[in-house]
Amino acid sequence: MQNREWIDSTWEKLEKKLLRTAVSSRNMIPYTSQNGVYTDENRKVSWWTNGFWGGLMWLMYKETGNDEFRKTAEKSEEILDKALCDYLCLHHDVGFMWHITSGANYRITSNEKSKNRNLFAAASLFSRYNIDGEYIRAWNSEKAKNWSIIDCLMNIPLLYWASDVIGDDRFKKVAMKHADMSAKQHIREDGSVNHVVEHNPDRCEMIKSHTGQGYSPTSCWSRGLSWAVYGMVLSYIHTNKKDYLEAAVKTADYYIKKCEKYDYIPPIDFDMPGEPMYIDTTAGVITACGLIEIAKQTNDKKYLEAAIKTLRNIEEKYCDYTDTEDSILQMGSERYPFDENAMKGVHIPIIYGDFFFAEAILKLKGSDFLIW
Ligand code: GLY
Repeated sequence: MQNREWIDSTWEKLEKKLLRTAVSSRNMIPYTSQNGVYTDENRKVSWWTNGFWGGLMWLMYKETGNDEFRKTAEKSEEILDKALCDYLCLHHDVGFMWHITSGANYRITSNEKSKNRNLFAAASLFSRYNIDGEYIRAWNSEKAKNWSIIDCLMNIPLLYWASDVIGDDRFKKVAMKHADMSAKQHIREDGSVNHVVEHNPDRCEMIKSHTGQGYSPTSCWSRGLSWAVYGMVLSYIHTNKKDYLEAAVKTADYYIKKCEKYDYIPPIDFDMPGEPMYIDTTAGVITACGLIEIAKQTNDKKYLEAAIKTLRNIEEKYCDYTDTEDSILQMGSERYPFDENAMKGVHIPIIYGDFFFAEAILKLKGSDFLIW
């Protein structure tokens, strides 16, 4: 099948399935599915993935204008309000939670209440900046006091937006300081990434690397790499600073080199043992979004071709469009499993898989709405 035909038929199936679940799952924020039915697994409202359902609904509403998507998106924004009022439960992932829900709502409908919500989220992220260490702090625990995380690159578009909207470039300056640090300390010479960096809090200096979800502190966790590929090109789009495009290209080249061996379906970690084989389809679809944007910025078809190979291979094997399963993308993985307990989060559908899969298909379809 030609690419264009594949994109159109994939979009048709996505739209049909998402219209069904937008209505049937309106009053919840799904995380995964169990026995084919969406569940939030009793996760607290501040759980980092809770923006992806609303974000997915805004992507669909923007493209189709169908109010069923808008109603579900608005409901999820209301549910999130409980977290926005609780400062100490918030973390570095507030961009994942509000920029693609309230931020998208404001950009699509000019809703002032949503703009206000997104500004509160931006203020919370801004307040995590360590002035001397020049990084945005990740989690709240004492142990993680001096840690930053590669994933944060996807959250700082919230700060670029806040600077624009209130005409105050302090937010943008903090975002760029963090992106500069991340380009040097998270991204390694060969284009692989450190997931977590422990910093000297008194000056911009890395002490050592840790891993949260990968195989080891020195290995390359594939979803961490995908946050770098997409996050760095987003920083370039928002600032025009060449270093960020170079960093995005370096991580994308690492992905392409490594993924050829895996038929463009990423393992959970590029340095994990070959057996047993664990994959993470979410890493593939996130990276594909980044590769498509890199192709637009560099005019280099290599990146678009790698994105399409990734998406087509994943779609052919791991997408479910039936009515007996609520989720679409299967075989996502939370982390490398070292024990039985962690196996629960391996090879399952996870809501951000569907979000980034739909985002990638929309980009290929020609949508120019950048939700980040
Ligand atoms: N932000 C955490 C993750 O990618 O699992």
